[in-house]
Amino acid sequence: MPVIAVIGAQWGDEGKGKIVDMLAEKVQMVVRFSGGDNAGHTVVNQYGEFGLHLVPSGIFSPRATCLIANGAVIKPDVLLKEIDLIKNRGVDTSRLFISDRANVIMPYHILFDGLEEEVRGGKAIGTTRKGIGPAYSDKVARMGIRVGDLLDKDGFLDRLRGILKYKNDILTKIFNVNALSLYEVYSEYCAYGEQLAPYVRDGVTMLEAALDRNEWVLMEGAQGTLLDPDFGTYPFTTSSSPMAGGACTGAGLGPTRMTHVLGIFKAYCTRVGGGPMVTELKDETGNAIRERGHEYGTTTGRARRCGWFDAVVARYTNRINGFTSAAITRLDVLDDLPSLKICTAYKLNGKTITEFPASIAALEKCQPIYEDIPGWQSSTNGASRFEDLPENAQRYINRLEQLIGCPVSIISDGMRREQTIHKIQILPD
Ligand code: GDP
Ligand code: IMO
Ligand code: MG
Repeated sequence: MPVIAVIGAQWGDEGKGKIVDMLAEKVQMVVRFSGGDNAGHTVVNQYGEFGLHLVPSGIFSPRATCLIANGAVIKPDVLLKEIDLIKNRGVDTSRLFISDRANVIMPYHILFDGLEEEVRGGKAIGTTRKGIGPAYSDKVARMGIRVGDLLDKDGFLDRLRGILKYKNDILTKIFNVNALSLYEVYSEYCAYGEQLAPYVRDGVTMLEAALDRNEWVLMEGAQGTLLDPDFGTYPFTTSSSPMAGGACTGAGLGPTRMTHVLGIFKAYCTRVGGGPMVTELKDETGNAIRERGHEYGTTTGRARRCGWFDAVVARYTNRINGFTSAAITRLDVLDDLPSLKICTAYKLNGKTITEFPASIAALEKCQPIYEDIPGWQSSTNGASRFEDLPENAQRYINRLEQLIGCPVSIISDGMRREQTIHKIQILPD
Protein backbone atom coordinates (compact mmCIF):
# COMPACT_ATOMS: atom_id res chain seq x y z
CA MET A 1 0.00 0.00 0.00
CA PRO A 2 2.45 2.68 -1.11
CA VAL A 3 1.13 6.18 -0.48
CA ILE A 4 3.14 9.16 -1.68
CA ALA A 5 2.23 12.62 -0.42
CA VAL A 6 3.25 15.48 -2.72
CA ILE A 7 3.69 18.48 -0.46
CA GLY A 8 4.43 22.16 -1.20
CA ALA A 9 7.54 22.99 0.81
CA GLN A 10 7.52 26.78 0.47
CA TRP A 11 4.67 29.28 -0.12
CA GLY A 12 2.80 27.38 -2.84
CA ASP A 13 3.20 27.31 -6.62
CA GLU A 14 6.27 25.09 -6.33
CA GLY A 15 5.19 23.04 -9.35
CA LYS A 16 3.11 20.39 -7.56
CA GLY A 17 0.77 20.13 -10.56
CA LYS A 18 3.55 19.18 -12.95
CA ILE A 19 4.99 16.60 -10.58
CA VAL A 20 1.60 15.02 -9.78
CA ASP A 21 0.67 14.86 -13.48
CA MET A 22 3.95 13.13 -14.20
CA LEU A 23 3.81 10.64 -11.30
CA ALA A 24 0.11 9.96 -11.86
CA GLU A 25 0.95 8.04 -15.02
CA LYS A 26 2.09 5.21 -12.79
CA VAL A 27 -0.42 5.24 -9.92
CA GLN A 28 -3.98 4.02 -9.46
CA MET A 29 -5.35 6.85 -7.33
CA VAL A 30 -4.77 10.60 -6.84
CA VAL A 31 -6.37 12.38 -3.89
CA ARG A 32 -6.63 16.14 -3.50
CA PHE A 33 -6.84 16.58 0.26
CA SER A 34 -6.97 20.30 1.09
CA GLY A 35 -7.69 23.82 -0.10
CA GLY A 36 -10.15 24.97 -2.70
CA ASP A 37 -10.01 27.01 -5.86
CA ASN A 38 -7.41 29.25 -4.25
CA ALA A 39 -5.04 26.66 -5.70
CA GLY A 40 -3.87 26.80 -9.30
CA HIS A 41 -1.97 23.75 -10.50
CA THR A 42 -0.47 24.04 -13.96
CA VAL A 43 -0.19 20.91 -16.02
CA VAL A 44 1.33 20.71 -19.50
CA ASN A 45 0.95 17.41 -21.33
CA GLN A 46 -0.34 15.83 -24.54
CA TYR A 47 -3.80 17.41 -23.96
CA GLY A 48 -2.36 20.95 -23.80
CA GLU A 49 -1.87 23.38 -20.90
CA PHE A 50 -4.30 23.45 -17.96
CA GLY A 51 -4.58 25.60 -14.83
CA LEU A 52 -6.46 23.27 -12.49
CA HIS A 53 -8.09 24.63 -9.36
CA LEU A 54 -10.04 21.72 -7.91
CA VAL A 55 -9.75 18.69 -10.15
CA PRO A 56 -6.72 16.59 -9.14
CA SER A 57 -3.77 16.87 -11.53
CA GLY A 58 -3.92 13.09 -11.94
CA ILE A 59 -7.03 13.37 -14.12
CA PHE A 60 -4.97 12.96 -17.32
CA SER A 61 -3.70 9.55 -16.34
CA PRO A 62 -5.80 6.86 -18.02
CA ARG A 63 -5.60 4.58 -15.00
CA ALA A 64 -5.82 6.88 -11.99
CA THR A 65 -9.05 7.33 -10.06
CA CYS A 66 -9.19 10.92 -8.79
CA LEU A 67 -10.82 11.94 -5.53
CA ILE A 68 -11.47 15.40 -4.12
CA ALA A 69 -11.44 14.44 -0.48
CA ASN A 70 -13.10 15.68 2.70
CA GLY A 71 -10.33 18.16 3.52
CA ALA A 72 -10.95 20.25 0.40
CA VAL A 73 -13.58 22.99 0.10
CA ILE A 74 -15.58 22.97 -3.11
CA LYS A 75 -17.17 25.83 -5.04
CA PRO A 76 -19.60 23.74 -7.10
CA ASP A 77 -19.88 26.06 -10.11
CA VAL A 78 -16.08 26.34 -10.36
CA LEU A 79 -15.74 22.56 -10.22
CA LEU A 80 -18.51 21.94 -12.76
CA LYS A 81 -16.97 24.45 -15.18
CA GLU A 82 -13.56 22.88 -14.73
CA ILE A 83 -14.94 19.42 -15.42
CA ASP A 84 -16.63 20.71 -18.60
CA LEU A 85 -13.48 22.43 -19.77
CA ILE A 86 -11.39 19.30 -19.32
CA LYS A 87 -14.02 17.08 -20.96
CA ASN A 88 -14.23 19.42 -23.94
CA ARG A 89 -10.52 18.99 -24.44
CA GLY A 90 -10.84 15.26 -24.73
CA VAL A 91 -10.00 14.16 -21.20
CA ASP A 92 -11.95 11.30 -19.61
CA THR A 93 -13.50 12.56 -16.37
CA SER A 94 -15.43 9.39 -15.55
CA ARG A 95 -12.87 8.48 -12.87
CA LEU A 96 -13.39 11.70 -10.90
CA PHE A 97 -15.13 11.51 -7.52
CA ILE A 98 -15.94 13.91 -4.70
CA SER A 99 -16.18 13.10 -1.02
CA ASP A 100 -19.61 13.58 0.53
CA ARG A 101 -17.78 15.01 3.55
CA ALA A 102 -16.10 17.92 1.70
CA ASN A 103 -17.42 21.35 2.70
CA VAL A 104 -19.03 23.61 0.12
CA ILE A 105 -18.12 27.24 -0.54
CA MET A 106 -21.31 29.29 -0.35
CA PRO A 107 -21.97 32.77 -1.79
CA TYR A 108 -21.66 34.37 1.66
CA HIS A 109 -18.15 32.92 2.04
CA ILE A 110 -17.04 34.87 -1.02
CA LEU A 111 -18.70 38.03 0.28
CA PHE A 112 -17.10 37.70 3.73
CA ASP A 113 -13.66 37.01 2.27
CA GLY A 114 -13.81 40.33 0.39
CA LEU A 115 -15.40 42.30 3.25
CA GLU A 116 -12.94 40.98 5.83
CA GLU A 117 -10.00 41.85 3.59
CA GLU A 118 -11.37 45.42 3.30
CA VAL A 119 -11.61 45.64 7.10
CA ARG A 120 -7.96 44.54 7.42
CA GLY A 121 -6.99 47.54 5.27
CA GLY A 122 -3.21 47.92 5.16
CA LYS A 123 -2.88 44.60 7.00
CA ALA A 124 -4.83 42.63 4.37
CA ILE A 125 -3.67 39.03 3.95
CA GLY A 126 -3.93 39.27 0.19
CA THR A 127 -6.26 36.27 -0.02
CA THR A 128 -7.46 34.97 -3.34
CA ARG A 129 -10.96 36.15 -2.30
CA LYS A 130 -12.36 32.73 -3.16
CA GLY A 131 -14.09 32.35 0.19
CA ILE A 132 -11.54 29.92 1.57
CA GLY A 133 -11.02 31.38 5.07
CA PRO A 134 -14.75 31.88 5.76
CA ALA A 135 -15.58 28.36 4.47
CA TYR A 136 -13.00 26.66 6.72
CA SER A 137 -14.06 28.90 9.64
CA ASP A 138 -17.62 27.68 9.20
CA LYS A 139 -16.46 24.07 9.00
CA VAL A 140 -14.71 24.37 12.35
CA ALA A 141 -17.60 26.38 13.80
CA ARG A 142 -19.89 23.50 12.75
CA MET A 143 -21.81 25.84 10.49
CA GLY A 144 -20.68 24.40 7.18
CA ILE A 145 -22.68 22.83 4.39
CA ARG A 146 -21.16 19.59 3.09
CA VAL A 147 -21.44 18.08 -0.36
CA GLY A 148 -23.58 15.30 1.09
CA ASP A 149 -26.04 17.89 2.46
CA LEU A 150 -26.80 19.14 -1.06
CA LEU A 151 -28.19 15.72 -1.95
CA ASP A 152 -30.87 15.81 0.75
CA LYS A 153 -33.04 18.74 -0.34
CA ASP A 154 -35.28 18.94 2.75
CA GLY A 155 -32.44 18.61 5.18
CA PHE A 156 -30.43 21.16 3.20
CA LEU A 157 -33.27 23.72 3.27
CA ASP A 158 -33.64 23.33 7.00
CA ARG A 159 -29.90 23.73 7.62
CA LEU A 160 -29.44 26.60 5.17
CA ARG A 161 -32.38 28.52 6.63
CA GLY A 162 -30.75 28.67 10.06
CA ILE A 163 -27.26 29.43 8.77
CA LEU A 164 -28.37 32.06 6.28
CA LYS A 165 -30.37 33.93 8.90
CA TYR A 166 -27.18 34.27 10.97
CA LYS A 167 -25.04 35.20 7.93
CA ASN A 168 -27.61 37.77 6.74
CA ASP A 169 -27.64 39.38 10.18
CA ILE A 170 -23.89 39.91 9.92
CA LEU A 171 -24.06 41.09 6.31
CA THR A 172 -26.80 43.64 6.99
CA LYS A 173 -26.07 44.73 10.56
CA ILE A 174 -22.27 44.68 10.64
CA PHE A 175 -21.26 45.25 7.04
CA ASN A 176 -24.31 47.18 5.85
CA VAL A 177 -24.67 45.19 2.67
CA ASN A 178 -27.72 43.46 1.19
CA ALA A 179 -28.97 40.17 2.56
CA LEU A 180 -28.84 37.05 0.40
CA SER A 181 -32.12 35.46 -0.64
CA LEU A 182 -32.77 32.04 0.88
CA TYR A 183 -34.79 31.03 -2.17
CA GLU A 184 -32.03 32.00 -4.62
CA VAL A 185 -29.17 30.39 -2.70
CA TYR A 186 -31.22 27.27 -2.06
CA SER A 187 -32.32 26.86 -5.69
CA GLU A 188 -28.83 27.52 -7.03
CA TYR A 189 -27.19 25.00 -4.69
CA CYS A 190 -29.93 22.36 -5.16
CA ALA A 191 -29.19 22.51 -8.88
CA TYR A 192 -25.47 22.07 -8.15
CA GLY A 193 -26.31 19.11 -5.93
CA GLU A 194 -28.12 17.44 -8.82
CA GLN A 195 -25.20 18.03 -11.17
CA LEU A 196 -22.62 16.84 -8.67
CA ALA A 197 -24.58 13.79 -7.48
CA PRO A 198 -23.04 11.33 -9.96
CA TYR A 199 -19.55 12.17 -8.65
CA VAL A 200 -20.31 11.93 -4.93
CA ARG A 201 -18.89 9.00 -2.97
CA ASP A 202 -17.80 8.01 0.51
CA GLY A 203 -14.15 9.01 0.06
CA VAL A 204 -12.95 7.01 3.06
CA THR A 205 -14.27 3.77 1.63
CA MET A 206 -12.79 4.52 -1.79
CA LEU A 207 -9.35 5.17 -0.37
CA GLU A 208 -9.53 2.16 1.88
CA ALA A 209 -10.44 -0.09 -1.06
CA ALA A 210 -7.47 1.20 -3.08
CA LEU A 211 -5.12 0.53 -0.16
CA ASP A 212 -6.56 -2.95 0.35
CA ARG A 213 -5.85 -3.68 -3.31
CA ASN A 214 -2.28 -2.58 -2.65
CA GLU A 215 -2.57 0.20 -5.23
CA TRP A 216 -0.23 3.16 -5.52
CA VAL A 217 -1.85 6.33 -4.21
CA LEU A 218 -0.72 9.93 -4.60
CA MET A 219 -1.90 12.55 -2.13
CA GLU A 220 -1.88 15.87 -4.01
CA GLY A 221 -1.11 18.81 -1.77
CA ALA A 222 -2.34 22.32 -2.47
CA GLN A 223 -0.67 25.53 -1.20
CA GLY A 224 2.63 25.21 0.65
CA THR A 225 3.80 24.48 4.18
CA LEU A 226 4.50 28.14 5.00
CA LEU A 227 0.81 28.84 4.32
CA ASP A 228 -0.21 26.32 7.00
CA PRO A 229 -2.23 28.09 9.74
CA ASP A 230 -0.18 26.43 12.51
CA PHE A 231 3.33 26.41 11.08
CA GLY A 232 3.25 29.09 8.40
CA THR A 233 3.70 32.83 8.64
CA TYR A 234 0.47 33.26 10.59
CA PRO A 235 -1.78 35.23 10.09
CA PHE A 236 -0.51 35.52 6.52
CA THR A 237 -1.51 31.96 5.74
CA THR A 238 -4.36 30.04 4.20
CA SER A 239 -6.93 28.22 6.33
CA SER A 240 -6.31 24.52 5.71
CA SER A 241 -3.25 22.36 6.33
CA PRO A 242 -1.15 21.80 3.19
CA MET A 243 1.21 19.50 5.09
CA ALA A 244 1.78 15.75 5.20
CA GLY A 245 -0.25 15.65 8.41
CA GLY A 246 -3.02 17.50 6.57
CA ALA A 247 -3.04 14.72 3.99
CA CYS A 248 -4.04 12.27 6.72
CA THR A 249 -6.89 14.32 8.18
CA GLY A 250 -7.85 15.69 4.76
CA ALA A 251 -8.50 12.26 3.32
CA GLY A 252 -9.02 9.88 6.23
CA LEU A 253 -5.61 8.27 5.80
CA GLY A 254 -4.01 6.70 8.86
CA PRO A 255 -0.52 8.27 9.29
CA THR A 256 1.16 4.85 9.39
CA ARG A 257 -0.04 4.17 5.85
CA MET A 258 1.97 7.00 4.30
CA THR A 259 5.14 5.57 2.82
CA HIS A 260 6.77 8.54 1.08
CA VAL A 261 6.58 12.29 1.59
CA LEU A 262 7.88 14.20 -1.41
CA GLY A 263 8.62 17.86 -0.65
CA ILE A 264 8.33 20.13 -3.68
CA PHE A 265 10.73 23.08 -3.67
CA LYS A 266 11.34 25.69 -6.31
CA ALA A 267 15.05 26.22 -6.92
CA TYR A 268 14.40 29.71 -5.47
CA CYS A 269 11.47 31.19 -3.50
CA THR A 270 8.24 32.88 -4.50
CA ARG A 271 5.24 34.11 -2.58
CA VAL A 272 1.89 35.65 -3.60
CA GLY A 273 0.00 37.95 -1.22
CA GLY A 274 1.17 39.62 2.00
CA GLY A 275 3.42 38.43 4.81
CA PRO A 276 7.13 38.12 5.54
CA MET A 277 9.59 36.58 3.08
CA VAL A 278 13.14 37.02 4.31
CA THR A 279 14.93 36.40 1.00
CA GLU A 280 12.64 38.56 -1.15
CA LEU A 281 14.53 40.44 -3.87
CA LYS A 282 13.05 43.84 -4.64
CA ASP A 283 15.66 44.54 -7.28
CA GLU A 284 16.74 43.73 -10.81
CA THR A 285 17.58 40.11 -9.95
CA GLY A 286 14.10 39.61 -8.48
CA ASN A 287 12.57 41.12 -11.62
CA ALA A 288 14.78 38.96 -13.84
CA ILE A 289 13.66 35.78 -12.04
CA ARG A 290 10.00 36.88 -12.27
CA GLU A 291 10.19 37.59 -15.99
CA ARG A 292 12.25 34.56 -16.94
CA GLY A 293 10.06 32.32 -14.78
CA HIS A 294 6.76 34.03 -15.78
CA GLU A 295 6.06 34.27 -12.09
CA TYR A 296 2.44 35.40 -12.25
CA GLY A 297 -0.27 33.53 -10.33
CA THR A 298 -2.32 30.79 -12.03
CA THR A 299 -5.41 31.71 -9.99
CA THR A 300 -5.32 35.49 -9.64
CA GLY A 301 -2.69 36.58 -12.19
CA ARG A 302 -0.89 38.54 -9.45
CA ALA A 303 2.87 39.02 -9.76
CA ARG A 304 4.68 36.60 -7.46
CA ARG A 305 7.31 38.02 -5.10
CA CYS A 306 10.63 36.35 -5.94
CA GLY A 307 13.76 35.71 -3.87
CA TRP A 308 16.72 33.41 -3.24
CA PHE A 309 16.35 29.86 -1.93
CA ASP A 310 15.79 30.00 1.82
CA ALA A 311 17.40 27.00 3.52
CA VAL A 312 16.15 28.07 6.97
CA VAL A 313 12.66 27.57 5.59
CA ALA A 314 13.65 24.35 3.82
CA ARG A 315 15.14 22.72 6.91
CA TYR A 316 12.04 23.71 8.88
CA THR A 317 9.52 22.44 6.32
CA ASN A 318 11.48 19.21 5.99
CA ARG A 319 11.38 18.68 9.73
CA ILE A 320 7.65 19.30 10.16
CA ASN A 321 6.65 17.20 7.14
CA GLY A 322 9.25 14.44 7.41
CA PHE A 323 10.21 14.52 3.74
CA THR A 324 11.64 11.25 2.50
CA SER A 325 12.89 13.05 -0.59
CA ALA A 326 12.65 16.40 -2.34
CA ALA A 327 11.87 17.58 -5.85
CA ILE A 328 13.61 20.75 -7.03
CA THR A 329 11.64 22.51 -9.77
CA ARG A 330 12.34 25.40 -12.13
CA LEU A 331 16.08 24.95 -12.12
CA ASP A 332 16.09 26.28 -15.71
CA VAL A 333 14.83 29.67 -14.52
CA LEU A 334 18.25 30.25 -12.93
CA ASP A 335 20.21 29.26 -16.07
CA ASP A 336 21.30 32.80 -17.02
CA LEU A 337 22.38 34.10 -13.63
CA PRO A 338 26.13 34.70 -13.17
CA SER A 339 25.96 33.88 -9.46
CA LEU A 340 23.39 32.66 -6.97
CA LYS A 341 22.78 32.98 -3.27
CA ILE A 342 21.36 30.56 -0.74
CA CYS A 343 20.16 31.83 2.63
CA THR A 344 21.61 29.58 5.32
CA ALA A 345 20.71 31.55 8.47
CA TYR A 346 19.02 34.76 9.61
CA LYS A 347 20.43 37.67 11.57
CA LEU A 348 17.91 38.73 14.24
CA ASN A 349 18.68 41.50 16.72
CA GLY A 350 22.41 41.00 16.21
CA LYS A 351 22.23 37.21 16.72
CA THR A 352 22.57 34.49 14.08
CA ILE A 353 19.61 32.10 14.13
CA THR A 354 18.94 28.97 12.12
CA GLU A 355 15.44 28.19 13.41
CA PHE A 356 12.40 29.62 11.65
CA PRO A 357 10.73 32.06 14.09
CA ALA A 358 7.01 31.76 14.88
CA SER A 359 6.38 35.47 15.11
CA ILE A 360 5.94 37.58 12.02
CA ALA A 361 7.25 40.60 13.94
CA ALA A 362 10.53 38.68 14.35
CA LEU A 363 10.50 37.45 10.75
CA GLU A 364 10.05 40.97 9.49
CA LYS A 365 13.25 41.96 11.32
CA CYS A 366 15.28 38.99 10.10
CA GLN A 367 18.08 39.68 7.63
CA PRO A 368 19.24 36.84 5.37
CA ILE A 369 22.77 35.48 5.74
CA TYR A 370 23.84 34.25 2.33
CA GLU A 371 26.26 31.79 0.89
CA ASP A 372 27.38 32.56 -2.68
CA ILE A 373 27.27 29.89 -5.34
CA PRO A 374 28.61 30.38 -8.86
CA GLY A 375 26.02 30.26 -11.65
CA TRP A 376 26.26 27.92 -14.65
CA GLN A 377 25.12 30.32 -17.40
CA SER A 378 24.21 27.52 -19.75
CA SER A 379 21.06 25.58 -20.45
CA THR A 380 19.89 22.85 -18.09
CA ASN A 381 17.18 21.97 -20.57
CA GLY A 382 17.34 18.59 -22.20
CA ALA A 383 19.41 16.97 -19.45
CA SER A 384 17.95 13.57 -18.75
CA ARG A 385 20.49 12.48 -16.13
CA PHE A 386 21.87 14.40 -13.18
CA GLU A 387 25.38 13.99 -14.62
CA ASP A 388 24.24 15.79 -17.81
CA LEU A 389 23.58 19.01 -15.89
CA PRO A 390 26.23 21.75 -15.99
CA GLU A 391 28.74 21.19 -13.20
CA ASN A 392 27.73 24.26 -11.22
CA ALA A 393 24.06 23.28 -11.47
CA GLN A 394 24.98 19.89 -9.97
CA ARG A 395 26.88 21.71 -7.25
CA TYR A 396 23.85 23.89 -6.54
CA ILE A 397 21.52 20.88 -6.24
CA ASN A 398 24.00 19.03 -4.03
CA ARG A 399 24.20 22.02 -1.72
CA LEU A 400 20.41 22.33 -1.55
CA GLU A 401 20.20 18.63 -0.72
CA GLN A 402 22.63 19.05 2.15
CA LEU A 403 20.79 22.08 3.51
CA ILE A 404 17.26 20.68 3.17
CA GLY A 405 18.41 17.51 4.89
CA CYS A 406 16.88 14.83 2.64
CA PRO A 407 17.83 13.33 -0.72
CA VAL A 408 16.77 15.07 -3.92
CA SER A 409 14.86 12.53 -6.02
CA ILE A 410 13.49 14.73 -8.83
CA ILE A 411 14.88 17.75 -10.67
CA SER A 412 12.56 19.64 -13.00
CA ASP A 413 13.94 21.91 -15.70
CA GLY A 414 10.87 22.78 -17.73
CA MET A 415 7.07 22.71 -17.69
CA ARG A 416 6.66 19.47 -19.60
CA ARG A 417 6.66 15.99 -18.09
CA GLU A 418 9.71 14.92 -20.04
CA GLN A 419 11.74 17.89 -18.77
CA THR A 420 12.51 15.99 -15.60
CA ILE A 421 15.52 14.21 -14.14
CA HIS A 422 14.78 11.25 -11.92
CA LYS A 423 17.85 11.23 -9.70
CA ILE A 424 16.26 8.60 -7.50
CA GLN A 425 13.38 6.50 -8.80
CA ILE A 426 10.46 6.77 -6.36
CA LEU A 427 7.96 4.79 -8.45
CA PRO A 428 8.62 1.46 -10.13
CA ASP A 429 8.97 1.49 -13.96
P1 GDP B 1 1.60 24.47 -8.17
O1 GDP B 1 0.56 25.35 -7.63
O2 GDP B 1 2.57 24.01 -7.13
O3 GDP B 1 1.06 23.33 -8.98
O4 GDP B 1 2.46 25.37 -9.17
P2 GDP B 1 1.86 26.38 -10.29
O5 GDP B 1 1.35 25.57 -11.41
O6 GDP B 1 0.97 27.39 -9.66
O7 GDP B 1 3.18 27.16 -10.68
C1 GDP B 1 4.28 26.51 -11.18
C2 GDP B 1 4.57 27.03 -12.57
O8 GDP B 1 5.86 26.56 -12.96
C3 GDP B 1 3.63 26.54 -13.65
O9 GDP B 1 3.51 27.52 -14.63
C4 GDP B 1 4.36 25.30 -14.20
O10 GDP B 1 3.98 25.00 -15.54
C5 GDP B 1 5.76 25.77 -14.13
N1 GDP B 1 6.80 24.77 -13.96
C6 GDP B 1 6.80 23.64 -13.21
N2 GDP B 1 8.01 23.06 -13.23
C7 GDP B 1 8.79 23.85 -14.00
C8 GDP B 1 10.17 23.82 -14.36
O11 GDP B 1 10.92 22.94 -13.96
N3 GDP B 1 10.62 24.83 -15.16
C9 GDP B 1 9.82 25.85 -15.59
N4 GDP B 1 10.35 26.79 -16.35
N5 GDP B 1 8.52 25.90 -15.25
C10 GDP B 1 8.02 24.94 -14.46
P1 IMO C 1 -1.19 26.37 -4.97
O1 IMO C 1 -1.93 25.10 -4.63
C1 IMO C 1 0.27 30.28 -3.72
C2 IMO C 1 -2.08 32.37 -0.64
C3 IMO C 1 -2.80 33.63 -1.09
C4 IMO C 1 -2.73 34.43 0.20
C5 IMO C 1 -2.91 33.36 1.26
C6 IMO C 1 -4.34 33.24 1.79
O2 IMO C 1 -1.40 26.84 -6.36
O3 IMO C 1 0.24 26.28 -4.56
P2 IMO C 1 -6.56 32.21 0.73
O4 IMO C 1 -7.32 32.60 -0.51
O5 IMO C 1 -6.08 30.81 0.74
O6 IMO C 1 -7.28 32.58 1.98
O7 IMO C 1 -5.24 33.17 0.70
O8 IMO C 1 -2.55 32.13 0.67
N1 IMO C 1 -2.38 31.17 -1.46
C7 IMO C 1 -1.54 30.64 -2.36
N2 IMO C 1 -0.35 31.06 -2.80
N3 IMO C 1 -0.24 29.11 -4.17
C8 IMO C 1 -1.44 28.67 -3.72
O9 IMO C 1 -1.93 27.46 -4.04
C9 IMO C 1 -2.15 29.45 -2.79
N4 IMO C 1 -3.34 29.31 -2.17
C10 IMO C 1 -3.45 30.36 -1.34
O10 IMO C 1 -2.12 34.27 -2.14
O11 IMO C 1 -1.45 34.97 0.36
MG1 MG D 1 -0.26 27.24 -7.99
